[in-house]
Amino acid sequence: MAVILRAEGVHLSYGEYRAVCGADLTLHCGEVAAIMGSSGSGKSSLLYCLAGVLPPTEGAVFFDGLQLSSMPDGELSALRRERLGFVFQYGELLPELSAEENAALPMRLAGIRKEHAHAAAGQVLRRLGLGNHLRTRTSKLSGGQSQRVAVARALAHRPDVVFADEPTGALDSVNATAVLDEFLRLARRQKTAVVLVTHDSDVAARADSHYTMSDGVLARRVIA
Ligand SMILES: Nc1ncnc2c1ncn2[C@@H]1O[C@H](COP(=O)(O)OP(=O)(O)OP(=O)(O)O)[C@@H](O)[C@H]1O
Ligand SMILES: [Mg+2]
Repeated sequence: MAVILRAEGVHLSYGEYRAVCGADLTLHCGEVAAIMGSSGSGKSSLLYCLAGVLPPTEGAVFFDGLQLSSMPDGELSALRRERLGFVFQYGELLPELSAEENAALPMRLAGIRKEHAHAAAGQVLRRLGLGNHLRTRTSKLSGGQSQRVAVARALAHRPDVVFADEPTGALDSVNATAVLDEFLRLARRQKTAVVLVTHDSDVAARADSHYTMSDGVLARRVIA
């Protein structure tokens, strides 16, 4: 499989504080990589670097061979919108918009026509069991339903890589398992690679590759 994302010696400092210390990671097309580690170990910071949200203090991240930190801002934003997706811990939806409008938003921002964007968003929302809520404002959805909309928003434009930072951290364990199952099934179906931060070792066990973060140091774990 081709390499889609590669981090080489990534460091990230906030002032004097080193949050990420020399991380190396290679992600292939369609691969699901899980990152575990205690609170404050630098997982979110690493994700921000991998996704081109924060430039590394040292080292480099290459997406499809392009070094993110050397791209002009406009190109980097377009790449993030069109080829990457994000699922945040609390979903971060726009409450006044419907499920379909929220899930279609990245495509709309990328200039895709409304009919097409809504059709793609609707299809993914239906696969996630939200067919009856396409037009419901997300302020009226439950936690689990909202998190499914956040998953749909990250996947509907068929990105190459989705970054998911404890995407079900706000849900009870039954709901969390259901949403994660659907997320991973859909990502695998459309061959979207995933970098998943999780506290749940059962979830991590379903990934193709496994990393742990400890005091800013990322280590690959090989499971026999
Ligand atoms: N903007 C910031 N400015 C200064 N320090 C920061 C900033 N963001 C994070 N940190 C520090 O960097 C370290 C790593 O934070 P990070 O959010 O990456 O950890 P994490 O592994 O994602 O934790 P959690 O599991 O709680 O989400 C922490 O000690 C945190 O206090
Ligand atoms: Mg975090």
